[in-house]
Amino acid sequence: MNICCIGAGYVGGPTMAMIAHKNPSIEVTVVDINAERIAKWNSSELPIFEPGLNEVVQSTRGKNLFFSTEIDEAILRADIIFVSVNTPTKTYGVGAGRAADLKFVELCARRIASVVHTGKKIIVEKSTIPVRTAESIKKILKTNSNGAEFQVLSNPEFLAEGTAMADLENPDRILIGGDVATPEGNTAIETLVSIYEKWVTRDRIITTNLWSSELSKLVANAFLAQRISSINSISALCEATGADVDEVAFAVGRDSRIGPKFLKASVGFGGSCFQKDILNLVYLSEHFGLPEVAEYWNQVIKMNDWQKKRFGQKIVRSLFNTVSDKKIAIFGFAFKKDTNDTRESAAIYVCRDLLEEQAQVSIYDPQVGEERIVEALGSSGVSVSDDPYEAAKDAHAIAILTEWDEFKSLDFQRLYDNMMKPAFIFDGRNLLAINKLRKIGFEAHCIGK
Ligand code: UDX
Ligand code: ADP
Repeated sequence: MNICCIGAGYVGGPTMAMIAHKNPSIEVTVVDINAERIAKWNSSELPIFEPGLNEVVQSTRGKNLFFSTEIDEAILRADIIFVSVNTPTKTYGVGAGRAADLKFVELCARRIASVVHTGKKIIVEKSTIPVRTAESIKKILKTNSNGAEFQVLSNPEFLAEGTAMADLENPDRILIGGDVATPEGNTAIETLVSIYEKWVTRDRIITTNLWSSELSKLVANAFLAQRISSINSISALCEATGADVDEVAFAVGRDSRIGPKFLKASVGFGGSCFQKDILNLVYLSEHFGLPEVAEYWNQVIKMNDWQKKRFGQKIVRSLFNTVSDKKIAIFGFAFKKDTNDTRESAAIYVCRDLLEEQAQVSIYDPQVGEERIVEALGSSGVSVSDDPYEAAKDAHAIAILTEWDEFKSLDFQRLYDNMMKPAFIFDGRNLLAINKLRKIGFEAHCIGK
């Protein structure tokens, strides 16, 4: 069997590496229009940082895992074609700011139809997409094909960045949606099941109809994000009343019906999925004439926006209502630890607000480089350092925006000694031992306490 994956990004790369690793007899080729990205996948410095990824790529690349820009050739050779391209929120026209832009998915479908003229192929949607996208893909393939037969499956990815390899190795479930009403559809589903069955037990592989699978992905992300917005809303109440949000989350999460995960109050959730998927859900609900449902989910995003704003405002207020020309050290720019991804990172929004207030932000992140930071913020008022002590030298405040483990073992006395006084610290992740910081002399603030 031969697999092709279109899109060598955060989802396509790690997922295909794992499939190749677990299926040595299957040849897997990952293709992308971005030649630079493909070159990096073929180099010793992979384009994305994921713990454990390098080892798996090293053990499979050149054997049964290949990265290439020869898209048509890979499509032609493949029995199964995964579509794993980006689906950003639309920035123009109908649905701007809410609907997913399916331009790249559609281009893939058209490309597949134009190069495949005979035989049978299974097309797997891996990108997160709105419900009923498979329908569009099917239609494009059908109306443009020259005799080839296509089966379209939905196989959403639930991996989280930073733990992608562990999530892929040991998934809670694999979800495969397909045309369950036809024998051809069921055969296609079983073909994909057989690939995952190499390392995932059958009871963890869920098969459904196409729409259920597509919708489940949006709903799973919406529920996860909702928990974060829920606890973040309570963090504000804790600050007002003297309760401790971590204690509340612990007590609430001990109820086995609620569970302890995704109840960590923070400066706000980020990442490429949560906001995009909820916006999609909101758009879909409106489209189907359900404004109450749309508003219900939209509130999760509003609460997140407010949490990010509130954090920046707290910094400004604490620093005597002005940060103009003050150096603020930003520790962490990635949207969470153990990734170099900055998409929708809360840090971007907090920094923008501080820059608006004419602060000088001095950023340190162990994995995010200057290029990406300047791309997000511009260069005016922004400096990037590869050393946290340098970043915080002569700063009025430090803001912790990503929960990198290494921040816990920094020498805070040294940081304090080289800062302006009073020295402030704003822990947007409740990562640090706040009492120790206060003992050093910091004026320390955290979330929900
Ligand atoms: C998410 C889903 O978890 C994953 O299943 C899906 O496939 C893609 O979207 P990801 O965005 O990579 O994964 O990271 P996740 O761990 O879910 O974190 C998202 C954001 O929420 C991060 O900014 C994180 O810091 C924040 N978060 C998470 C909190 O603020 N509190 C929490 O308790 C958990
Ligand atoms: P994700 O997080 O969903 O994996 P990324 O943006 O990291 O998203 O990756 C998507 C990849 O898909 C990018 O590397 C992009 O160049 C690639 N891509 C987009 N459109 C096409 C296309 N038509 N053909 C091939 N690759 C594409």
